[in-house]
Amino acid sequence: MSAKILSGTETAKEIRAELKAAVEKMHTEHGVVPGLVTILVGEDPASQSYVSGKQKAAKELGFYSVQENLSADTCEKDLLDMVERYNRDERIHGILVQLPLPKHISESRVIMAIDPDKDVDGFHPVSVGRLLLGEEGFAPCTPSGIIELLKRSGANTSGAEAVVIGRSNIVGKPISMMLARKAEGGNATVTMCHTGTKDIAAHARRADILVVAAGRPGTVTADMVKPGAVVIDVGVNRIGIKPDGKAILAGDVDFDTVKEIASAITPVPGGVGPMTITMLMKNTFKSAQMKLEKEGHTNK
Ligand code: GUN
Repeated sequence: MSAKILSGTETAKEIRAELKAAVEKMHTEHGVVPGLVTILVGEDPASQSYVSGKQKAAKELGFYSVQENLSADTCEKDLLDMVERYNRDERIHGILVQLPLPKHISESRVIMAIDPDKDVDGFHPVSVGRLLLGEEGFAPCTPSGIIELLKRSGANTSGAEAVVIGRSNIVGKPISMMLARKAEGGNATVTMCHTGTKDIAAHARRADILVVAAGRPGTVTADMVKPGAVVIDVGVNRIGIKPDGKAILAGDVDFDTVKEIASAITPVPGGVGPMTITMLMKNTFKSAQMKLEKEGHTNK
């Protein structure tokens, strides 16, 4: 039997409709709208496209949104000064500096400069620490999108064997933490596989939930999947170009064969990808909500 297709596009639409209503309520009750600034340094076409997707989503939700475009030769100090200005800007609740940055700028110094209470990307070491400790804060958007997709699809993670392939700071490490934490969408027994793992296939075959974030097409084939597993494909690999100039994308999972074995699977494109931007919006809304609560308003 063919697997249920977990559509990130549809789920993201649902969440954005909920968020839009919550933004209107926040505005009516408190006169506040969530504010997001996206900062792009240079003119990398993929980064431009990601940032414009984030801006479009913010505008559609009624956020206050600002787009900063800096030239590729911007010096680190100017970027740090800009981040500092937005740290102090009361209208801004979320600061996103699009990565990668030009080589002459330290990504780590820039991320460290962002106020952790506005770190809607969840990349600041304080955010990473909060996630690890189970404290209130911002989790990175791609793993948050995966958890949301699992929850809304009714997948049972509690007590499940979860196997994550990949150990990146953006996906592999945080999703492993989130699947293991004692919370809805978590409570799984997690194995994290990586390039040093001796037999990835043997681990993958034990998985009830298989998250693949290796960055390589064909990482997971049908023989590596347990019948009935839920398979989440985080890969976005450009494997060619269409006649209209658009990229042909493939995930890390061999979709056509694995969908015959799994109980549910995310497609590429249209799976995890659309969820990522939506979770950025959710984090920005949450940041505005947390600020209201800190100021003594209750907005739950
Ligand atoms: N570059 C690719 N993905 C991301 C992301 O999620 N956040 C930021 N800031 N840069 C990225």
